[in-house]
Amino acid sequence: MEQYAINGGNPLVGEVEIGGAKNAALPILAASLMTDETVLIENMPDVRDTAILLDAMQSIGAHVERLDRHSVKINGSHIHDVVVDGSLAKKIRGSYYFLGVLLGKYKRAAVVLPGGCDIGCRSIDQHIKGLRALGASVKIAHGMVTAEAQRLVGSHIYLDVASVGATANIMMAAVLAEGRTIIENAAKEPHVVDLANFLNSMGANIKGAGTDVIRIRGVQKLHRTEYVIIPDQIEAGTFMFAAAATRGDITVKNVIPKHLESISAKLVEIGCEVREFDDSVRVISKGPLRHTHVKTLPYPGFPTDMQPQIVVTLGLSEGTSIVTETIFENRFRYVEELVRMGANIKVEGMTAIIDGVSCYTGAGISAPDLRAGAALVIAALSAEGMSTVDDIRYIERGYEDFHLKLQKLGAQIEKIEGEREQQKFRLKTG
Ligand code: EPU
Repeated sequence: MEQYAINGGNPLVGEVEIGGAKNAALPILAASLMTDETVLIENMPDVRDTAILLDAMQSIGAHVERLDRHSVKINGSHIHDVVVDGSLAKKIRGSYYFLGVLLGKYKRAAVVLPGGCDIGCRSIDQHIKGLRALGASVKIAHGMVTAEAQRLVGSHIYLDVASVGATANIMMAAVLAEGRTIIENAAKEPHVVDLANFLNSMGANIKGAGTDVIRIRGVQKLHRTEYVIIPDQIEAGTFMFAAAATRGDITVKNVIPKHLESISAKLVEIGCEVREFDDSVRVISKGPLRHTHVKTLPYPGFPTDMQPQIVVTLGLSEGTSIVTETIFENRFRYVEELVRMGANIKVEGMTAIIDGVSCYTGAGISAPDLRAGAALVIAALSAEGMSTVDDIRYIERGYEDFHLKLQKLGAQIEKIEGEREQQKFRLKTG
């Protein structure tokens, strides 16, 4: 089993290039099937989740041509199946996007109930409510969600929670529905806006993405486009906190600083210096780190996908910090691992109470999910001595070349397999 071997204690210094946003890429790749013409997508992150989604698309007849690592041409004119089944689709949360895509285009879709990281119960009731409001009959049986409709007709939908996935799915189905759809309490995340921009570039008529109310006027059909995916807010934020925790100085390049505001604000609050440029942000961590309180919230609040990274950093900050998770109920599982590295953190329900320590010590740890895995790597990079991180397949779901990018910043990290390679790493980094 592959793992990361890390020898911690070095400040990370330098520049890192941020890739395309995974959570924008997933719905955009799926939505490219909504036209019979060829779509070109650029700045696609080359991560496990996008690879699995592309494989699932091919399994139902999509023609997928990888031009290079980050560019792909997709043609959805030969879709032969509206049933997205099997082990592939089950592995990723993003497979639920086939519901909106195939229902919108073919008025029928059946998708295996989505998997993804085990961070909470992750209901899809709001997706179902929205698709039903558009006139689809939706059933769950034998582990599959099936949606079908004679015709889809625009509707006024109020979401009970501002769900990213439900907003995207409803938006995609509504684009090809008759008449006008209004989604109230819509998710405002940058990736929702990116999907709307992508669909509009294919001829859709979507207004208001990025606000609470999205208005969609259905069109007859969509056409070809060329589209560049936005930079990944969470990948950027992860490196920004890596700078903070390792007392380093990192410039994250190819970002949209506006998307990083809640992250930058917390870094400044805890004592880092943050300098914003047009498309890059520099984080300098020199003085003592201070405690703060954090509550995860939908955008523009502090993202739940950055919660483990800030907890790792607050674990090294003076005083007592309180972090409350409000989006997913099972997102503190990594704390147990962090405590084994010397952190002083108690979790009570959805709240972590963190008493800062002066440093962590290296240990053998496991990534319980994608973001927590990345956060534990940051902990290991800031720790004294050697750590190994298992289950790195979770991290590879959403971070492209994570260890290589960290190496360029001066980190002693390698992807290894087996006891012998571990020994070799130990001797080398001694
Ligand atoms: N929810 C419902 N009913 C629904 C849908 C969601 O109750 O029908 C609840 C969820 O249980 C959760 C909250 O609403 O408490 C927010 O869930 P949301 O639907 O917004 O999340 P998601 O679409 O399942 C996406 C990202 C996650 C990210 C969240 C929140 C993708 C593939 N996943 O998940 O990303 O944490 O939005 O921003 O886009 C990650 O990248 O590591 C990751 C987990």
